[in-house]
Amino acid sequence: MADADAPFVLVSNRGPVTFEEDGTVRRGTGGLVTALTGLLAHRSAVWVASAMTAADAARSREAGDRPFPVRGPTGGEYLVRLVESDPIAYERFYSVFANPMLWFIQHYLWDLSNAPDVRRHEIEAFEYGYNVVNEDLAHAVIQEIEGGAAPVVMVHDYHLYTLPALVRRARPDVFLHHFIHIPWTQSDSWRVLPRNIRNELYHGLLANDIIGFHTQAYRRNFLQCCRDLLDLDVDFERGVVHHEGREVWVRSYPLPIDADATVAISQSARTLEFEREVERRRREFLILRVDRADLSKNVLRGFTAFDLFLDQHPEFRERVTFVAQLMPSRTDVAEYAEYLERIEALVAVVNHRHGTPDWMPIHLKLRDDLEEAMASYRSYDVLLVNAMFDGMNLVAKEGPIVNRRAGVSILSENTGAHEELGEFALSVNPFDIQELADSIHAALTMPAEERERRAAGLRKIVTARTPGDWIDDQLDDIRSKAAETDGS
Ligand code: F6P
Repeated sequence: MADADAPFVLVSNRGPVTFEEDGTVRRGTGGLVTALTGLLAHRSAVWVASAMTAADAARSREAGDRPFPVRGPTGGEYLVRLVESDPIAYERFYSVFANPMLWFIQHYLWDLSNAPDVRRHEIEAFEYGYNVVNEDLAHAVIQEIEGGAAPVVMVHDYHLYTLPALVRRARPDVFLHHFIHIPWTQSDSWRVLPRNIRNELYHGLLANDIIGFHTQAYRRNFLQCCRDLLDLDVDFERGVVHHEGREVWVRSYPLPIDADATVAISQSARTLEFEREVERRRREFLILRVDRADLSKNVLRGFTAFDLFLDQHPEFRERVTFVAQLMPSRTDVAEYAEYLERIEALVAVVNHRHGTPDWMPIHLKLRDDLEEAMASYRSYDVLLVNAMFDGMNLVAKEGPIVNRRAGVSILSENTGAHEELGEFALSVNPFDIQELADSIHAALTMPAEERERRAAGLRKIVTARTPGDWIDDQLDDIRSKAAETDGS
């Protein structure tokens, strides 16, 4: 199995590209697309994903609802099959159940004395939304592997927990590998969900042969959840869950970035043009954050800490600017729309409190522009990654290999990236605003030699592994497990 001729399918909610009304092709956002682009360079595969815009759906129909080749705007050729779901079902799937329900559970974001209330709205979003989209994508996957021997399907992320069981039912011989790009939280956080929904999600997921996470901590949590919530027989040592007569392997594969591709974008003509603008506007010091505008990223506490820092260190006034490049995300979800409003309001307050006629302490850029972000990566003195909880966080890896000023990374201890990079970053507890303010001060006053030492340490770790290695580790495990199963 896993031989070069076996059908090989990737499936995720977000695909590598999105078609816009005006005919332009945009790259899909987020770490998932970055990760999988490397996989397709490795071997030919069909990438099955949801059609997200009307133009995606139109393009898919044009291709007879079958795979078609497409070239990504930042490189890469893909064979893509975009699957259209009923728009109401899709809305329930994406904006009610996957986000916020699952996303909030998997980042500890629920404020449990207030939310969530689980009512028919949420339950129906699972039954007639989440499950419908999982069925639609499963149907496409089953079609793509039809007739082929020993197919391999790689499933991605929290949108597709019920899909594996559907594919397994149709093709018991399939090899299913599921990688989860976000944290796996401790068992009690899952108790928010009605028991039958929780069971359906876990049983769906346990139809996989291998389940992968970014870190050892998420892997441990998952194993513990299987024991606590489902009373399953779990082997912590081997990382195995026994489920319905099968062994499910649970593994960790920390995702690397494609350093060469990242550096290439950071040297594009457009990036360098943005850089000139950044340099023209900059003060002595530049603090940077680059994030999706997501509640888990902890944007508000970052600004509050900067406010506190300016109060406690007035000698830095007019000498430092905080650039925050935030990509609006999931704005149809009420919690996200409200979060954006709170961000804008807080920036106005801090700028009003400390700003002067020719100095604006925080420069907020609410847009998704990779090259503009890269220009700031080149120029920062401090990179702030203070997520409350984050599966990996690729910004923490991209920044240090692009930066030209031996910038210091401030990194939340609750990001997946911290398992690898913590030693060379200034680690922070993301809830401790005073610690963050102190870290900003420590970073801005750090001796040049120490900055160099840390920056070199970060670069070395980030460039040690490639997305190709990440894929190879997973393919190796697929081969070993399939060989074990064939031999048994
Ligand atoms: O990497 C985590 C992730 O949730 C991906 O699954 C997703 O593609 C990305 O972040 C961006 O989120 P969304 O697809 O909702 O825009």
